Order: sequence, then structure tokens, then C-alpha cells
Amino acid sequence: MERIIDLEEKTEDVFDKNIRPDSLSEYVGQKKIKENLKVFIEAAKMRNEPLDHVLLYGPPGLGKTTLAHIIANELGSDIKTANGPAIEKSGDLAAVLSTLEEGDVLFIDEIHRMPAYIEEILYPAMEDFELSVVIGGEGKSRSIKIDLPPFTLVGATTRSGDLSGPLRDRFGIVNKLEFYTHEELRDIIIRTSQVLDMNITKDAAMELAQRSRKTPRIANRLFKRVRDFALVEGTGEVDLDITLKSLERLNVDKYGLDRIDIEYLESLIMKFNGGPVGVETIATAIGEEVSTIEDVVEPFLLQEGFVKRTRSGRVATALAYEHLKIDYNKSLFD
Ligand SMILES: Nc1ncnc2c1ncn2[C@@H]1O[C@H](COP(=O)(O)OP(=O)(O)OP(=O)(O)O)[C@@H](O)[C@H]1O
Ligand SMILES: [Mg+2]
Repeated sequence: MERIIDLEEKTEDVFDKNIRPDSLSEYVGQKKIKENLKVFIEAAKMRNEPLDHVLLYGPPGLGKTTLAHIIANELGSDIKTANGPAIEKSGDLAAVLSTLEEGDVLFIDEIHRMPAYIEEILYPAMEDFELSVVIGGEGKSRSIKIDLPPFTLVGATTRSGDLSGPLRDRFGIVNKLEFYTHEELRDIIIRTSQVLDMNITKDAAMELAQRSRKTPRIANRLFKRVRDFALVEGTGEVDLDITLKSLERLNVDKYGLDRIDIEYLESLIMKFNGGPVGVETIATAIGEEVSTIEDVVEPFLLQEGFVKRTRSGRVATALAYEHLKIDYNKSLFD
């Protein structure tokens, strides 16, 4: 099912490069990370050395890719990008590494999905700027070393737990991105509205912020949809009135829950008496993939306390009952 609050990056998001901030000062929130990076970048520039390798991790849509590009911009460097799952053979990695020039940033997205033996080629590249390649065929193969120009690797991952210890240890700078506050999301929405040249009132921006699951990607996406309603059916400005109407039509409720979240909670409460029930059973009941439930639906429901994960399965909390207007106590004594 197509979800407007889907966390995954979509094609339309990729085309939205213009709403990506391109300097640290325009990047909203993540204060600690920004302050530290500023110092490390400045120091690297003063020493005329590449910045230490940087690992960025955290849930989808919090700004890892954006930050990687900002790091390159602030360094005044070019950025070359690669994707973990697309690097299948040692040659794939060697091809990317061989395009690097001095001081470049190499951005590897979804770095946890690189095969283990590729990681091993990366180690000497990260530590000594050296690439070992095996040449020649059966029986006659030998390994040669190629010097690489000094560069900065920026790795991004949504699952830092899936990263091997030795790889993680080779990053000098490790940053975990945090969920955003409503005020930060409001500022992001206002900034986006300025870039896209469509005015939004402050109360409307706050309303959208509260329904954005603490995630900038969702905030921007909601703004763009509401903007359409404002243009066609509203006053041409995004005000609170058109915002509330649009959100209703988009089926995004006051917590940012949409139809699939509600179906999940309803099924858990009505069909399985609030749980505990296994995730596979819920997935079957609402006709979704287990992986969608686990990666996209549950993280926010868990984080906001609508659901608990117990050893015997998922359990709906009092908050879930309250939100769906179902009597919690009554269900306990049924
Ligand atoms: N701190 C921020 N300030 C302003 N806009 C932001 C910020 N963080 C993210 N955004 C916006 O949110 C969108 C999503 O960010 P981005 O693509 O960088 O997320 P990501 O962490 O790389 O996600 P994924 O894990 O799916 O790759 C971007 O289009 C960007 O404009
Ligand atoms: Mg990304």
C-alpha cells in the first residue's frame, strides 16, 4: 500500500535536491553533531589533511544523505557516491576507489549491506590509503598495491548493529542522528515552504510538524501534499484550515498515524484481544509483509508507546486503546 508517511526514499524525494540544505548552518537540529563536525572540518582544513572517516547512523529520513553532502560542501570537496548493496565484487569497489582524487569525500550509503570480503578491501584503503588488487588468473595470480589519494569515507546506515566491529572501529567520527522535535520540524517545513515559494502560516507548520513522526522526510512530504490542496482548493496559502482538511483526506491522524498503523492496532486489539500475538500473525491478518511491519510500521508505534514487544509477542498499550477509543478496562475483563 502506498503511504504518504512512508519512511522510504522515493523518486520524488530524490528530485527534490533543492529542498536539501547544503550547509551546516541551514541544517536544522542535531546540534551536537553539527558543532563537533564544524570543529573537525575546520581543523582538517587548517592541517590541510582529509577529514577523518565519518559514520552516520539512524532511522530512515533523518538526514544522513543530506549531511554527507553538507560535509563535502563544507570541506570544499567533491563527493563520489556508492551504494552498499551495489558493491558486489571487489572490482566494483576498486572502480569507485580509483575515481577518487585528493581530498574527495566517498559516500557509501547502506554501508552495512556490503559483503564481508569487500569490507576487507576497504580496511587498508581507509587506514593507509592503499588498495590491494589481485591480478592474473588461476595459479598465477598475485596481489599488487596501489596508492590512493587521501580521502574521507562517509558511511551511512540505518542499522549500525549490522556493521562489523572492525569496520565500525575504522571510523574516527561516529554520529547517531536523533529524532527531531516538533519545533525543529516546524522550522524545516517553513524553510521548505520558502524554497518552494509557497507561504505557510506558523500554526499550520506546527500542525504538520506534530504529524510528521519526528522525521524531516515525512514533514517535507506532508507539506508538499498540503500545498497541492492549498493551491487547488484553498486560498493559495497553506493555513491551518486547509492543513486540517488535507490531513483528514490524506488519512494522517493527530499522531501522524495513517491507515496501515490504525489497521495494525485495530487488528491487534479487536482480533487478538490486545495480544500478545506474533508479528507474522498480525501481518497475515492485515495483508502486509512481515518486513514492512517490522521496518516501517512498528518502529514508530514502539517508540511512541502504542505497542510493546514482549517475548510472547506484540501487546497493545493503554495508549493504543485510548487512541482508538476502545475501553481498555472493558477488554481486560471480557
Ligand atoms: N536537519 C535537516 N534540516 C533540514 N532538512 C532536512 C534535515 N534532515 C533531513 N532533511 C530533509 O529530509 C529529507 C530526507 O533526508 P535524507 O535523505 O538525508 O535522509 P536519510 O537519513 O539519508 O534517509 P535514508 O536512510 O532513507 O537514506 C531530505 O530531503 C532533506 O531535505
Ligand atoms: Mg539517505
